[in-house]
Amino acid sequence: MSGRKTVLVTGGTGYIGSHTVVELYENGYDCILVDNLHNSSSQLVANLETLVGEPIKFYQTDLCDKKGLEQVFRENRIDSVIHFASLKAVGESAKVPLRYYRKNILAALNLLELMEQYEVKILVFASSATVYGDATKQPGMIPIPETCPLGPTNPYGSTKVIIEKLLHDLHISDEKLWKFAILRYFNPIGAHPSGLIGEDPSGVPNNLVPYMAQVASGKIEKLRIFGNDYDTRDGTAIRDYVHVVDLAKGHVAALRYLEKKDDENEGICREWNLGSGTGSTVLEVYNAFCKAYGKEIPYEIVGRRDGDVINLTAKIDRAVKELNWKPQLDVADACESLCR
Ligand code: WQD
Repeated sequence: MSGRKTVLVTGGTGYIGSHTVVELYENGYDCILVDNLHNSSSQLVANLETLVGEPIKFYQTDLCDKKGLEQVFRENRIDSVIHFASLKAVGESAKVPLRYYRKNILAALNLLELMEQYEVKILVFASSATVYGDATKQPGMIPIPETCPLGPTNPYGSTKVIIEKLLHDLHISDEKLWKFAILRYFNPIGAHPSGLIGEDPSGVPNNLVPYMAQVASGKIEKLRIFGNDYDTRDGTAIRDYVHVVDLAKGHVAALRYLEKKDDENEGICREWNLGSGTGSTVLEVYNAFCKAYGKEIPYEIVGRRDGDVINLTAKIDRAVKELNWKPQLDVADACESLCR
């Protein structure tokens, strides 16, 4: 359809990227997907086309291949970018830091240089709550506000901090020009109600909910709960689980905010936490999952996992107020949609 704004979505076949593409179409945008399919498959593109009801332009390109990425800019008129593409496994990043620094930072540099060259000034960046590190070490910072000092404890988190810094420096270099939204996700969970897109990581999942899904499907024998000796209501650690559809809506809200700034010929670079604003313990999520699944899945309490902290819950007042965004779904909805 003519007249629609076109959003370049890097990592558009990924978990959060694909859910955001659906929301973008539902809000009248057209998308171009760029993905190297490192952690997804081209089947996702077909599923997305089914969901949005039209063909979607897809380039199987790695953002580290600047020539390949430039072809996307040369062949299309792009109004804005949402940048998801990134290596994102915390544990893996500690084992192969060089790969993480190279891939994540070079991808961002290539993207920003081409945006400058082709005069695309609006970018929504997928950052992560992991930039805060162990916020419980900062007095009065739970729930975590955007003003909490940053303290990444792994190379993955450090690459996000470096890219955030890069965006701030670029914004300061020309305060009128660039419109950047930095979205710090807490723990995304759940799936689109259609069941056509969801979290399907290649290999053994790192995260709690997809791990429980693999126990339920029999791929994995049992869930190990990392520690029940935390000073919390049931001894297990607290996180802020946000439904991926709410998260996707948050990206559209942020894009609209940046477009308004563009209309006002204003530059901006600003962070927003995207979480539910509510903390849930591991056992509470486990119980919600079993309820949605319809039967108990086996688990065993084991020792704490290195790097885990007692509580990471988001303060989301800024996004609620400024982006006019409010999470509508909860952990139970997420577990139901995932089981579907
Ligand atoms: C959640 C809770 C575990 C698995 C990570 C990244 C973060 C972000 C989201 C990218 C913790 C417990 C988990 C299991 C368990 N990713 N758990 N058994 O560690 O909060 O955040 O994912 O941006 O960067 O750090 O998520 O799902 O791994 O763990 O008991 O098999 O579940 O201890 O308390 P986490 P998680």
